[in-house]
Amino acid sequence: MGKEQKKIFSEAQDFLPINGTDYVEFYVGNAKQAAHFYKTAFGFQSLAYSGLETGDSTKTSYVLVQDKIRIILTTPMSGNTEIENHILKHGDGVKVIALWVDNATKAWEETTKRGAKSYMEPSKLEDENGVVIRSGIHTYGDTVHVFVERHNYDGIFLPGFEKWDSTYNPSSIGLKYIDHMVGNVGWNEMNIWEDFYKNVMGFANLITFDDNDISTKYTALMSKVMTNGNGRIKFPINEPAKGAKKSQIEEYLEFYNGPGCQHIAIATDDIIKTVTEMNARGVEFLHVPKTYYNTVTNRVGKIDEEIAKLRDLSILVDRDDEGYLLQIFTKPVEDRPTLFFEIIQRKGAQSFGKGNFKALFEAIELEQQKRGTLI
Ligand code: FE2
Repeated sequence: MGKEQKKIFSEAQDFLPINGTDYVEFYVGNAKQAAHFYKTAFGFQSLAYSGLETGDSTKTSYVLVQDKIRIILTTPMSGNTEIENHILKHGDGVKVIALWVDNATKAWEETTKRGAKSYMEPSKLEDENGVVIRSGIHTYGDTVHVFVERHNYDGIFLPGFEKWDSTYNPSSIGLKYIDHMVGNVGWNEMNIWEDFYKNVMGFANLITFDDNDISTKYTALMSKVMTNGNGRIKFPINEPAKGAKKSQIEEYLEFYNGPGCQHIAIATDDIIKTVTEMNARGVEFLHVPKTYYNTVTNRVGKIDEEIAKLRDLSILVDRDDEGYLLQIFTKPVEDRPTLFFEIIQRKGAQSFGKGNFKALFEAIELEQQKRGTLI
């Protein structure tokens, strides 16, 4: 970690210590089919299940795991519920970004007294494997943070869930942990959410990108990366900026019907292997023009990977003063142009691929053009 970063991390407040991401919960139209997709295409493993068979007649949830990443796919079992209304409004998307804490009651008290709107008062879940305390607050749009305290629990996931034994178990593809999760917010709202993460959650601003950093001939956006005190949680917040045409952020806000999670960046130790496997399993990626690779060595210097391999897979490279990073972006993983994934391998660099923004956003514009939304 560089000196500048250390200073930023020490600025982050310690009233909300966070150990890491606990899980990400998606509300989806058909959890059974979504679970099949994330197992097949992304290499997640079956972990836990709750639904009619476990005594929950209101919703069905599948929990999937890969190394440190846990995702829950939840679908409602009847109409006019919070979950169904969420899906009607947003389509499939991220509802809960759950954070692993040592004290969920204190996390709720500290954040609500600083102005957070409560989503869930501290509540106890209990079974023969122990106790989990959860609480929650609202963040941008209809997205929420749930604080999970689980040091007295050694069950499979949470009380109410049973182990999910499946006969279909595609192998992992080497996804390790969530590197960052990005939120898209409305016009002039980035600073409001920067203040929220600063004042309510004790985060600090790691990097700011203005519309000069992130613009093409047609579109622009702005972004502020917020981090917690130990750097394990990074939330970039994007807002649209004025350009000649409609930006990808505006497109997202229209199709998601408001702010929400734009992408989840997942780390791997071997991006070439991971992305080769994802291609074979049918994941669709954004492709930059092949000319991007003509100048890549001039820009980033010597790297361990063969440029030809990166070009074949459309993997992007960027360097900062601490090292370099490799990254690639999927197309949206649902029919609406909303949530997508980033696969990232960090080789020293702790930044976010600023040198790739232009090529990347031009690639997104090509997709927008096909969708008729680059207007
Ligand atoms: Fe990202």
